[in-house]
Amino acid sequence: MKITVLNGSPKGDLSVTLQYVHFISKKFPLHTFSVHNVSQKIKSIEKKETAFDQIIEDVRNSDAVWWSVPIYVCLIPAQYKRFIELIHEKGAEESFRDKYTAVITTSIHFYDHTGNNYMHAVCDDLNMKYVDFFSPDMFDLLKEEHRKKLIDFAGSFFDSVTDEIPVTKSYAPVIYRDFIYEPENHSEKIDAGDKKVLILTDSDDENSNLGKMVEKFRNSFSTPVDVVDISKLDIKGGCLGCIECGFDNRCTYTGKDDYIDFYNKKVKTADIIVYSGNIVDRYLSSGWKQFFDRRFFNTHIPTQTGKQLAYIISGPLSQVQNLRQVFTAVAEIDHANLTGIVTDEFGDSEQIDNLLQNLASKLVRNADNKYVKPVSFLGLGGRKIFRDDVWGRLRFPFIADHEYYEKNGFYDFPNIDPSEHKFSMDMIEAVKEPEAREMIRKMIKPQMVEPLKKMVETK
Ligand SMILES: Cc1cc2nc3c(=O)[nH]c(=O)nc-3n(C[C@H](O)[C@H](O)[C@H](O)COP(=O)(O)O)c2cc1C
Repeated sequence: MKITVLNGSPKGDLSVTLQYVHFISKKFPLHTFSVHNVSQKIKSIEKKETAFDQIIEDVRNSDAVWWSVPIYVCLIPAQYKRFIELIHEKGAEESFRDKYTAVITTSIHFYDHTGNNYMHAVCDDLNMKYVDFFSPDMFDLLKEEHRKKLIDFAGSFFDSVTDEIPVTKSYAPVIYRDFIYEPENHSEKIDAGDKKVLILTDSDDENSNLGKMVEKFRNSFSTPVDVVDISKLDIKGGCLGCIECGFDNRCTYTGKDDYIDFYNKKVKTADIIVYSGNIVDRYLSSGWKQFFDRRFFNTHIPTQTGKQLAYIISGPLSQVQNLRQVFTAVAEIDHANLTGIVTDEFGDSEQIDNLLQNLASKLVRNADNKYVKPVSFLGLGGRKIFRDDVWGRLRFPFIADHEYYEKNGFYDFPNIDPSEHKFSMDMIEAVKEPEAREMIRKMIKPQMVEPLKKMVETK
């Protein structure tokens, strides 16, 4: 069996993820694997028709395709997303149709599920026969138990192709509505006071729905608003995954392009940040993904603490709930407040005008009140993963993270509170006694609410 492997790591042959493929290749010597470093070579693939065509030719002549890719910022690297966009832009979808496929991602299990969801949807959009995904921790290959899982996964995949098993889609195609947004010029202006408002967009088409929504939103304010088209910034390329930033947040691109200065001077100093973009496949554009990946020079340190965030989106966001989840997660993990999202997906122009106006006033109100809503599982779970890894195995090379986490009280491990621990130990001892157990069983409900009731009464 011939398998074309599309390697999504910007590190090319030095990819961690690719070692999982190499391991399978060693254990199944009868199959051949043809690896293409698509992320590492994205610039030449974009420029040279032949480079792209060779990969597509290989896909066409293979029995199966494997997407081998690291998780980057809750998804895949920008370079890999660009390759997926090229498949559609260059009309190469037919070469993928009906190919059996699987996705192998490595990560530290921080939003690997949203990356895997995305890749599954991409495969469904290409009408591929998606069999399964394998999403280990980046170092699982070092463990016997996980090597066995990997062999089982691969064996099952090869059998699926040989047996031509039936498969079904998990994602319905995304449907765009035919709608032209025509804003009215009537609303009263909002005074943002001393709050710095920054709108980031990747669209320079002022006649598009997105362009008009951004303009309408900007005009909701009586005070100055900064609008920056990120596609006009000199950004030399995507994050390379070199981790040179780990020690002191110094990026390998320092002094080579606009990104770091722009991020430090404009984004970090804004009080209100509005991200705006079009839905492109199952996310925003790869340009946006590049912007988000490059933020990794801050490693795992939040850079939007206390800020108000919002999104203005053109396209069917409700059909891409995975992306909505990523928006929420990123805000919560970054200690920011996601005030709202406005799209052109529902309603008429007047309703969208009102939504944009309301978003502007809510952003200012929240900024004035320094309001940051409590985090959900998305933020809390994500923070715990970072906390544990930065405390433990990732302290080196992420020295800057450790220093920041220590200084800012991020190491909130439960065993740090001795009084809570002692209370639990005393109670566990007490309920060993059958009579006490019965008595305490009845007391649990009122006791649990007691401190809260007291607070309601006194505050
Ligand atoms: C820019 C960047 C973003 C990352 N984002 C995530 C993430 O969102 N979730 C996660 O679990 N790991 C994340 N990682 C860790 C990588 O997924 C992990 O190290 C992976 O094994 C690298 O694979 P590779 O060597 O094949 O590129 C990120 C790493 C980098 C460099």
